[in-house]
Amino acid sequence: MDVEEAIRIRRSIRRFKQKPVPVEMLEKLVDAARVAPSGANLQPLEYIVVTDASLCDRVFEGLKWAGYLKPEWRPPEDEKPSAYIVVLADKQKSPYYEVDIGLAAENIMLLAVEYGLGCCVLRNIDKDEIRSLFSVPDYFYIDSVIAVGYPAEKPVVEELRESVEYWRDEQGTLHVPKRKLKDILHINRY
Ligand SMILES: Cc1cc2nc3c(=O)[nH]c(=O)nc-3n(C[C@H](O)[C@H](O)[C@H](O)COP(=O)(O)O)c2cc1C
Repeated sequence: MDVEEAIRIRRSIRRFKQKPVPVEMLEKLVDAARVAPSGANLQPLEYIVVTDASLCDRVFEGLKWAGYLKPEWRPPEDEKPSAYIVVLADKQKSPYYEVDIGLAAENIMLLAVEYGLGCCVLRNIDKDEIRSLFSVPDYFYIDSVIAVGYPAEKPVVEELRESVEYWRDEQGTLHVPKRKLKDILHINRY
């Protein structure tokens, strides 16, 4: 798969097959994050890979999914993620940590696509629970959790019309509106 294809087919995945993700694959995802661009090359990010079933259950409890879907929705028991990558930032190390996180997360998600995996970045998370569960030192900021697993859904991109809110149709397919290229692209002038 080339990079363009991975960029095109990557969508946030929130329904997963119940199939374990090999830890070696998760290590490779973190290794892809390791070589992402980093402001002043300060590299303030670290990662916790979670594969243990009972730890995964504890992480899952603190996650809020797909805020636009009503009524409130979360993956059912037979569609939960198989693994998580918790993203930590040592804020003292770099003022650019938030940009670094975005770039690292995209590296993870694109390589995941190549491996046939799906991911969802979640920032609506119970950070206190994660800190105590993994004994994360105080000097780390807990930014996000990336859910990882084999996709059990295939969301589709739509042209954005009135609302940025994604929605599910009667077949359960998630539709994700994106702004049109002509609305965001300016060549040689605004
Ligand atoms: C910073 C950030 C935070 C996010 N937090 C959540 C979250 O807490 N829960 C969730 O279900 N999705 C979350 N998402 C996923 C977005 O909803 C998703 O990227 C967006 O709807 C566009 O869909 P796409 O990723 O398929 O293009 C987050 C994404 C980003 C970049």
